Amino acid sequence: MSKKPLAPSATACLSSVKPSLANRHLVLGVSGGIAAYKACELVRRLQDLGASVQVVMTAGAQHFVTTTSFQALSGRPVFTDQWSDTVANGMPHIELSRESDGIVVAPASADFLAKLCAGLTDELLLSLCLARDGPLWVAPAMNRQMWENPATQANMATLRSRGVLVLGPDHGEQACGEVGQGRMLEPEDIARLLAVHLQEMPQPPAGHLPPLRGRLAGRHVLITAGPTQEPIDPVRLITNRSSGQMGFALAAAAQRAGARVTLVSGPVGLRTPDQVHRINVQTALEMQAAVVEHLPAAIFVGVAAVADWRVAGPVHDKLKKQSGADLSSLSWVENPDILACVAQGSSRPDLVVGFAAETGDLDQLRQQLPEKLARKHADLLVGNLAQDSMDQASAQLLLQSRDGSTELLETAPKTHQAERLVHRFADLLNALDKTT
Ligand SMILES: Cc1cc2nc3c(=O)[nH]c(=O)nc-3n(C[C@H](O)[C@H](O)[C@H](O)COP(=O)(O)O)c2cc1C
Repeated sequence: MSKKPLAPSATACLSSVKPSLANRHLVLGVSGGIAAYKACELVRRLQDLGASVQVVMTAGAQHFVTTTSFQALSGRPVFTDQWSDTVANGMPHIELSRESDGIVVAPASADFLAKLCAGLTDELLLSLCLARDGPLWVAPAMNRQMWENPATQANMATLRSRGVLVLGPDHGEQACGEVGQGRMLEPEDIARLLAVHLQEMPQPPAGHLPPLRGRLAGRHVLITAGPTQEPIDPVRLITNRSSGQMGFALAAAAQRAGARVTLVSGPVGLRTPDQVHRINVQTALEMQAAVVEHLPAAIFVGVAAVADWRVAGPVHDKLKKQSGADLSSLSWVENPDILACVAQGSSRPDLVVGFAAETGDLDQLRQQLPEKLARKHADLLVGNLAQDSMDQASAQLLLQSRDGSTELLETAPKTHQAERLVHRFADLLNALDKTT
């Protein structure tokens, strides 16, 4: 095992340590005990301390609480089946624990603990625990006689000797009406104990992000990317320096998060991300038509640098200098504002996000974004300085939200920024789901 578990700290030390699970990603295993309902509360307490949580349930657990409750609380689909084909390599028992900082099973039933002790793997959660390379905590919860039974006590001694960290159980009134030892620790105490243990272990590197998997499962994400090209005549055109990298990185990240992704792209030389549906367009009008055709979507992200103007009328013949034609003789019409149209249209996505590339400095950008966000009727505007980000592999981003708040995402590769943004989109959608 590469990540060595530490000995459990005493509950008494809890009050002296400021707990944090920031940037931690935990697998929460739920087995079949009456305390399974308390695991719902545990999801919240872990999140309060900054962790992201992937729930895995045994078949027994599903007799007590539904996957729906955990999915709604964690914002991720719940895993229950080791034969699931939703994991890229088809091996969730390996992948889920590899991506996590540890596994906590709460409640851990007598049956689950006995199987864990015996090394059985007829449940995804058991396979995960056996294949783990990080710490494993169990929070037993059962009737006091089940807990005191020599079989259970022998299993606990074996598990402890193998480095499994045992949290509780507590003494007190039980669901069966008896009083004794066997109650699951309170979710708040479990969360704080995990934080204490993990703070004694190596911290994740700065900028570490939790996995995207499942965060946008079942959602349609529609993205525009790249420049548009507006013909002046059959051989000349107006375009800009947008490379499409940000939009393509977002498409790839949204796909990894489980979304169905449609990418409407202007002319760029980039490879289409795996399993992304790409539509190539040239002009702003073509881009708008493709966007309208592919609505509805849960999220629209307008990353494309769409030309504001196009030449009015047909451009059949090449303009000739000798015939006195010059640029000033052309007449121009304004292109549609695709972002504003989507945000005000009848098929408005739940989340409308725009990108705004401006020149000037960060202070000017800060001043410009609120007015632009309001004018576009978007939910979120991602500002960036064109001179630093256009045609570059990295970017600094300034996020402007509707409530007036801003967040600066310091310069990082666009692939990394895309992952941050997709997490943000998933958080916003989850918040919306809870209010509707
Ligand atoms: C109403 C009810 C409550 C139960 N509560 C517990 C419990 O709190 N702890 C426990 O270890 N087993 C409890 N059991 C027994 C387990 O549910 C049973 O052993 C089950 O097979 C465990 O499934 P698992 O391996 O997924 O944990 C309970 C059974 C019932 C019917």
